[in-house]
This record gives sequence, C-alpha cells and structure tokens, in this order.
Amino acid sequence: MERQEAMQAFESVFGARAEDLFTAAGRINVIGEHVDYCGGKVFPAALNLRCNVYARKTGGKTVRMAFRGIDGIVCLDTEKLDSYRGLKIGNYQAGVAYFLQQNGVEIVGCDLYYDCTVPFGSGLSSSAAIEVATAVAFSEYAGVEYDKVELALISQRAENEYAGVNCGIMDQFASAMGKKDHAVLLDCLTLAYEYVPLQLGAYCLVVANCNKPHNLVESKYNVRRQEVETALKTLQKALNVQCLAEITPKQFNDVKYLLSGVVAKRAEHVIMECDRVNQAVAALKAGDLMELGRLLNESHYSLRDLYEVTGKELDTLSALARKESDCLGSRMIGAGFGGCTISIVKKTGVDGFIRRVGKAYHETIGYRASFYETSIEDGITVEKL
Ligand code: GLA
Repeated sequence: MERQEAMQAFESVFGARAEDLFTAAGRINVIGEHVDYCGGKVFPAALNLRCNVYARKTGGKTVRMAFRGIDGIVCLDTEKLDSYRGLKIGNYQAGVAYFLQQNGVEIVGCDLYYDCTVPFGSGLSSSAAIEVATAVAFSEYAGVEYDKVELALISQRAENEYAGVNCGIMDQFASAMGKKDHAVLLDCLTLAYEYVPLQLGAYCLVVANCNKPHNLVESKYNVRRQEVETALKTLQKALNVQCLAEITPKQFNDVKYLLSGVVAKRAEHVIMECDRVNQAVAALKAGDLMELGRLLNESHYSLRDLYEVTGKELDTLSALARKESDCLGSRMIGAGFGGCTISIVKKTGVDGFIRRVGKAYHETIGYRASFYETSIEDGITVEKL
C-alpha cells in the first residue's frame, strides 16, 4: 500500500491526519534455525517487508487500532491491558502495551493504523514486526528514552506470556536491530551481536513462500521446545552446561547414548546446526558461497529429518530450487511447517529460476508458491509525517 493511500485510510477511519510513521521489519534467517531458545547463535537479517504503523497521539486512556484490509476498530483501555489476551486481532499490541506498562512506561492514548506488508503465516515474522513497531509507537508517545534491544525483549515477552507462543529472541531482535545490507550474528545466550555484510556478489537470496495453509504451527512449536528442554535436562547429568548450544558435536557424540527417540534427534539437530552457523559465517566472510550454499542445504535436511519441522511443501520447494544450476543452496526458514524458503541464486538466472521452480511446484503441490522481491534493510524506523 502506498503511503498516500495508508494516510487517506487513516484519516477516513480516525477523522484526523496521521502524524508519525513507526516501522519494524520482517526477517529472514540465513542459518541457525530452532537454536535461539537453546542459547545458540542465529544469523537473521531485516527485510523491506515490514509492519508500518501510521500514528497520532490523542492523549487519554484509549488506544484505537485499525488494520489494512479489515473493517472496524479495536479499542484498548489502557487501564485494562491485562484483559485482551483473547483478541484475535490486536492481542500482540495489547501484550506489548501491557508489558511496557508493567515496566513503568505510561501508555498514552493514540490512534494506530497497521499496514503490515510482511505476509501473515509466512515464517517471515509478521508477529515480531507488529510487536516491535507497536513497542516503538508506545515508547515514543510516552516520551521515554528507549533501547531497541529492550523493546525486542518486551516484544518477545508479549509473544511468550500474552499470546502464548514460546518463541526465542531471534525474530524480535532482527526486527528491531537489523541493519541495511547486513545480517546480524546474534548470540542468543548473551545477546552479544555482530553485523556481517550480506554480500553475495553475482548471487542474491530469493525468498519463496510455499503458501501451505497455516495449521497449528504454534502448538507444534511449543512441543519442540519441550523436547529440547527434556534433552538438556538429561544431558546435564553428564555435562556441566547451561544450554544445548554449549555442547560441541564431539561432546555430543560421547553422551548421546543417554538420549533416545525424537529427543535424541532434536538435540542432534540443535548441536549440529549451531556448528553450521559458525561454518556459514566463516564461509560468507571468505566469500565462499558454494560452501554457504552447502550448509544451507545441510540445515534443511536436518530440519527435515531430525527436527521434523518441514513437510511436503517446504521439502518440494527447496528440492526444486536445488535442482537449478543457478542455485547454490536452499532451505526453509523460521518455525517451519509451512512458510518460506531462501535460496542462493545467480542474479542473472533469477527470472528463469522463479518460472521453473514456480511451475514445477504448482504441478506437484496443486497450488502456487509466491516469490518476493526482498532487500535487506534497517530494523526500526521512526519518521514524522
Ligand atoms: C520462530 C520463532 C523464533 C525461532 C524460529 C526458529 O520464528 O519465533 O524464535 O525459534 O521460529 O528458528
């Protein structure tokens, strides 16, 4: 939606002009999947697909929210922020407001119009983008100094404790802290981070959505978290570690007999994926894109065979990508079970890649995949209109 159109929509819903635009980004993750909640390193980057919040401060105790493509207004009473957990639309925002308030930030009445260009249920973190952009809006209107990492943590808390999804910190951190043309190497245990230029020379990343209908992703996600917690508790009997990410592949080899069944597979994924992140960052820094592509493929196979979060659609989409001679590697990103893949594709071959993979995917799965034009951008932006 063009800015002009969004501003008109704001005016027709709220009867006044929007004064500010707060945005936060959707994200991809180059590698390091399902390791953030195990203390691992992840390597996400913020996208041009974003949650745009057009806003006006009104004062008082009511927050009014409207959403592109959805009729009506959702109102929040700033004195009852604990009571909106059941909202289908607006619960992320209410959660963010609630936890900011708990932290002593005054939630000031305002009108907010949401134009989110991150496709919902795509694995590109629309929810994190919504949470972080909302946290910026409330913090700005409260007139407080804020730290972007703090806003990411509050947003994660809203998702964990208000919306009930036990996610890690990766999405909210990338959404808030992303940097143009860089990926963020984030240590999820310490929150230490480093920006690494995402320079792929003659290649680029193609983001494709398998468009599988959203189905119980949150509950399956929470089950994975329980499985790795079980694995950690068992391994802690033999190793002095505080998280799975601290265990090296060699150490794991020595103690894996302690685990069995799916719990063993889940732990093996986490430990090997953490190792791949280090290798992938080294490969990228050395300009070895073949190696980076190989690691992306390995990551996908591990998510398919050990973590079991892919499914036919993501497996088909990434396998079709891998068959292309212009593609160096492909994998699912995000929570999985549906959503997006990223593929490293030669720039001159992108059109043919999209055409052929798109056609073959349609023929195999029966509906179409979507391909997005993406660029890597800053996380949070704040602008006076
Ligand atoms: C979702 C969660 C993240 C992370 C990924 C998997 O996107 O929100 O915290 O766990 O899945 O890597």
